[in-house]
Amino acid sequence: MSVSPILEVRNLQISFVEQNRNRLVLRGLSYSLEKGRVLAVVGESGSGKTVHALGLLSLLPAAARISGGEVRYKGQNLLACSAEQLRQIRGAKIAMIFQDPSASLNPVLTVGQQLIETLRAHESISKEEAARKAIELLDKVGIPNPEKRLDEYPFQFSGGMCQRVMIAMALALKPDILIADEPTTALDVTIQAQILRLMKDLQQEYGMAVIFITHNLALAAAIADDVLVLYGGLCMEQAPAEKLFTHPLHPYTQGLLGSLVSVSRKTEHLPAIPGNPPIAGEPLPGCPFAPRCSQATEKCSQKLPPLFAKGSCYVRCWLEEPHGSTH
Ligand SMILES: Nc1ncnc2c1ncn2[C@@H]1O[C@H](COP(=O)(O)OP(=O)(O)OP(=O)(O)O)[C@@H](O)[C@H]1O
Ligand SMILES: [Mg+2]
Repeated sequence: MSVSPILEVRNLQISFVEQNRNRLVLRGLSYSLEKGRVLAVVGESGSGKTVHALGLLSLLPAAARISGGEVRYKGQNLLACSAEQLRQIRGAKIAMIFQDPSASLNPVLTVGQQLIETLRAHESISKEEAARKAIELLDKVGIPNPEKRLDEYPFQFSGGMCQRVMIAMALALKPDILIADEPTTALDVTIQAQILRLMKDLQQEYGMAVIFITHNLALAAAIADDVLVLYGGLCMEQAPAEKLFTHPLHPYTQGLLGSLVSVSRKTEHLPAIPGNPPIAGEPLPGCPFAPRCSQATEKCSQKLPPLFAKGSCYVRCWLEEPHGSTH
């Protein structure tokens, strides 16, 4: 049975304007997200994960331009929405947990003030009602003594607790979609696992769709239904999680997974593949992974492969070109 997607990203292109030059950092990204599914977007630092997420909600820095594409939420193109329409959608329909916690929590307001303000900005409820809901939310994300904690400031919370507060803020309005950009990067491994479990439980309880952004494949494996691998601003592979982790098609994904099992679990970065990721904005004519790929042929460095469909998977690699294709 096919379900109509809650979010459809079509050929999203984002560039940075620098010294009269356009640096293309997202080179035409497309995917669909269905209600209640978790999509992990994985990739090395600089691959375009955060820029893509900010682009979805038109929250990009001033130097960035969306140079093409569509972002359809329930059929409505968010890129063509007015600032007011976007304000209604952000937080209430699509919420985001930012990579930088200081971008979400205001240090001079108590946690309670921030939650109450968020709740009252979208719902006409009394302060008392909002405070009651805020306590419920803090309780839900596992903050002990929520009544007392409401009057405390973010600096009085540990890193893991701040992360829980950010999840509570994002969930305050029961959004349809939660975008979580590296929500556990700053935390130690045990707390990471707790937060991940919490997110998965709440996602199932609320029936939310989630875009989970991470450089950590192990986290993606723990939470995702589907995985999209970004490299140099391009989708290299997209597949249901169980397929991607058991039968990765792209040599890049194979490299990432291969080295994952051989390195310490404590690794904070994607495991090493020889060579460096491409410099964004200086695209090579061919596959951006070709310079690091042990299986690359001459064609790979000359011509960018399209995304080939293989069953329920997509892969951008000439090795996966179907026989008889005209590409
Ligand atoms: N404010 C900015 N000005 C100029 N370039 C930027 C800016 N923000 C991001 N970029 C560029 O856009 C590209 C993608 O960056 P992005 O932050 O999306 O990477 P990322 O995949 O989220 O990496 P990380 O894992 O480090 O968070 C990079 O080349 C980066 O240098
Ligand atoms: Mg990022």
